[in-house]
Amino acid sequence: MSEQIQDLQQEHSKYIVDLGDWKRTSSCSELTAADVGREVCLMGWVQFRRDHGGLIFVDLRDRMGLTQVVFSPDVAPEAHDRAAILRLEYVIAIKGRVRHRPEGMTNPNLKTGEIEVVVYDWKLLNTSKTPPFAIEDRCDAGENLRLQWRYLDLRRPCMQKNFVLRHKVMQAVRSFLDGEGFYEVETPVLTKSTPEGARDFLVPSRLNQGSFYALPQSPQLFKQLLMVSGFEKYFQIVRCFRDEDLRADRQPEFTQIDLEMSFVSEQDVMTVAENLMQKLFRDVMGKEIQVPFPRMTWDEAMRDYGVDKPDTRFGMKLVELTDAVRGSGFKLFASAPMVKAIKVEGGESLTRKEIDALTEFVRIYGAQGLAWIKIKSETEWQSPIAKFLSEEERRVIRERLDAKVGDILFFQAGEPEMVNAALGNLRVHLAEKLNLIPKDSFNFLWVIEFPLFEYDKEEHRYVACHHPFTSPLPGHLELMTSDPAHAKARAYDMVLNGNEVGGGSIRIHSAHTQMKMFEALGFSDERAEEQFGFLFHALEFGAPPHGGLAFGLDRLIMLLAGCQSIRDVIAFPKTQKATCLMTQAPSTVSGAQLRELGLKLREAPEKRAEAQPKAE
Ligand code: AMO
Repeated sequence: MSEQIQDLQQEHSKYIVDLGDWKRTSSCSELTAADVGREVCLMGWVQFRRDHGGLIFVDLRDRMGLTQVVFSPDVAPEAHDRAAILRLEYVIAIKGRVRHRPEGMTNPNLKTGEIEVVVYDWKLLNTSKTPPFAIEDRCDAGENLRLQWRYLDLRRPCMQKNFVLRHKVMQAVRSFLDGEGFYEVETPVLTKSTPEGARDFLVPSRLNQGSFYALPQSPQLFKQLLMVSGFEKYFQIVRCFRDEDLRADRQPEFTQIDLEMSFVSEQDVMTVAENLMQKLFRDVMGKEIQVPFPRMTWDEAMRDYGVDKPDTRFGMKLVELTDAVRGSGFKLFASAPMVKAIKVEGGESLTRKEIDALTEFVRIYGAQGLAWIKIKSETEWQSPIAKFLSEEERRVIRERLDAKVGDILFFQAGEPEMVNAALGNLRVHLAEKLNLIPKDSFNFLWVIEFPLFEYDKEEHRYVACHHPFTSPLPGHLELMTSDPAHAKARAYDMVLNGNEVGGGSIRIHSAHTQMKMFEALGFSDERAEEQFGFLFHALEFGAPPHGGLAFGLDRLIMLLAGCQSIRDVIAFPKTQKATCLMTQAPSTVSGAQLRELGLKLREAPEKRAEAQPKAE
């Protein structure tokens, strides 16, 4: 800020006065022609100020909207003269009378656009420095600048709208679940590590030096224990903490709508979750959605979409060709464990440069390259690989993909995991790039029958796909040890427009089965006892059958609000590097604080100081 403006602000500060007995009569969004003649008192921020023919016009903003107020030398000369000091974001209270705007000056885009308030008295409640960016919806400041000045960013109407939506969703959730007989119970934040697949955030204990609490990745074990306690239906809108690599839809601390029920099957939990979504859409979005949602097994999702959270708003399904090109003249196809393709209708116009960019895109998923064929005419296939394909192979490819002149086909060959990931993500990427996704449509579905385990290549062992408290499908108990790769879980994910918005399962409620699960995961008896003894013991005291689910609240709001990042629906989010640019967290602590905790850092403090977050 220039010194001149700073001096001005300091100079103006001496005019700041108390609110006294002034009371707001109206918000800045509610006055209309019906209020003409009324005396009103408004309070808010100066959004915009202009001087015009002796009059001073101010757009006054509060959280509800804007009202034009006018300082007129004819109506109140003293109030008008004082208004010369008004600058952007100054906070004022005005008293005045509502009048029609002059002919031709009305603004049909504003709720209050027919009227203005002529001021007869006003108070300066605070001054403001010049904000680092414009406090309005259209703001070209980069995200880092917005995060650094988050409280100003949050003043922007588009941001406030997101939080009003979030508030409404939270209220609707509480009212719906209360109506369904759920009790809201809080669970500890300083707790013991719960395995949800991410790294824990640890908190050192001062009173028990050398020991650490973990911040909960979710309240999973506590909600199960509440079922053992006989609560039967629990919910909580709860903060969860996961130290994982961040993406647009992931934050290190995020909020879940967490619920658990006793004496239920998958169907019961899914019905509650569907009805909750229906209620949110009806009450908050004014939209009707159809329940029940379609169900798709995990196997079907992987087969047709390559991912476990299919976006079903558009086609372009993956097509299996492994059998058709077995022994092909194209060596890469001949022996690959899996060959699949997708078709982009009319995609023949994609340029070489665009195809190269798509090839780069699939590399993220471990693909070495991206084979393609452009169907130029019935007989002409333009492609680096077409010449290796036999007539019969061409026929099957054409038939299975229903390929027409003008289409482009993309192929991937290799290990199923890579083929599915590369083509499944390419499918979504292409749909976004080519605008194939219908706007304003909300496609829900359930993905069910997940694998119980997935193989961790780094650790060379099976790990729980969902979490280790998930029950196997009936008949799959023995597979847990005999054939873990094929054991399936009583787990379900709710998917909305290709995003996993919630996930849950029917839990293991027998101590014996839980022990078997830990065996299958390679836990020794001692380690299982040390980490989860409290759970086993609880299961031994009449644990009822139970199951539940957790929604990612931030993700859900992001989708409802039509935002691209969950950071836009979290009041004070962290950056991709898990830093807070406003408070500068995480930050170093004093030597005294460390000593109190019995901790000693290996790196010198100067080095740590360098590691402080900076505006990126
Ligand atoms: P899960 O780990 O699938 O299940 O999490 C449930 C939902 O939480 C959201 N989510 C996240 N949102 C933002 N940032 C993150 N880092 C993040 N991680 C997860 C997702 C996800 O669907 N205890 C189980 C639930 C249960 O079994 O009942 C659990 O936490 O939308």
